[in-house]
Amino acid sequence: MNAGLLERKTAIITGAGSGMGKAAAKLFAAQGANVVLADLNKEAADQTAQEIDHSGQVLVIQTDVGDDESVQNLVNETFNHFDDIDVLINCAGVPQFFTPIEEMSIGEWDKIMSVNTKSIFLTTRYLVPYMKKREKGSIVNIASIAGIRARPGLNAYCASKGAAIMLTKALALELAPFKIRVNAINPGPAETPMLGKFLPGDAQQVEEDKKKIFIDSVPLGTLIKPEDIAQAALYLASDLSKAVTGEIMNVDGGRGI
Ligand SMILES: NC(=O)c1ccc[n+]([C@@H]2O[C@H](COP(=O)([O-])OP(=O)(O)OC[C@H]3O[C@@H](n4cnc5c(N)ncnc54)[C@H](O)[C@@H]3O)[C@@H](O)[C@H]2O)c1
Repeated sequence: MNAGLLERKTAIITGAGSGMGKAAAKLFAAQGANVVLADLNKEAADQTAQEIDHSGQVLVIQTDVGDDESVQNLVNETFNHFDDIDVLINCAGVPQFFTPIEEMSIGEWDKIMSVNTKSIFLTTRYLVPYMKKREKGSIVNIASIAGIRARPGLNAYCASKGAAIMLTKALALELAPFKIRVNAINPGPAETPMLGKFLPGDAQQVEEDKKKIFIDSVPLGTLIKPEDIAQAALYLASDLSKAVTGEIMNVDGGRGI
């Protein structure tokens, strides 16, 4: 791999305490970026910071990505510390436990929409003024293959990711005149703590269902690794993809075909 693809760049990564966000934080730091680790779970983000083998600086900011004030604080603190921003990876997300629509609570629906979709609106809203002034920026939204290929019982989750995909395209067009690129990644079923949370049953049942429901639906026959998503995010964050915007990249082992 090329060394230093993100030298002298500053990246905010939400959901950096676990799974794909954690893998992206480690990879981006190894590629020379200053990284801001934003997660609701501060302990987990601190743990990521400790595991980082970096040449740049690391800043942990406890953030609720669905909360207006908390996101404003994330952006203000990033600028107080680094006075710059190049990359935003919107990776924080919550799953949905398989639920028939008539049993879906309004509170749960709102939470999924808030963390998975409104978060992209909020982070972009507060970062874009800085990016516009400097005429640079790469925003990468981690959506899901569930945003284009539905599963029964994942009504809110699929809707939240479908909206994230369309928001990505709308923002790509809106922000192109300012040299700000906006892309999304659709991960397929991935080996992270989130995957089991979609499924009912005890631990053994969950492991069996993971195979039956998720692995068997992937043509390449294996779950996606968080590092697979981090590599794709690195491409979209870096200048390697300087001609790419509005792209929705499936990193899904063929699940979306
Ligand atoms: N795991 C999969 O199979 C899969 C598949 C497709 C898409 N995705 C998406 O990929 C992204 C990363 O998922 P993952 O599998 O790495 O999940 P994960 O559960 O391992 O990590 C998610 C992180 O987001 C954080 N988070 C949750 N709510 C938050 C909030 N309100 N504010 C800030 N941080 C919050 C959690 O603390 C956690 O650290 C998510 O958007 C998810 O929807 C996951």
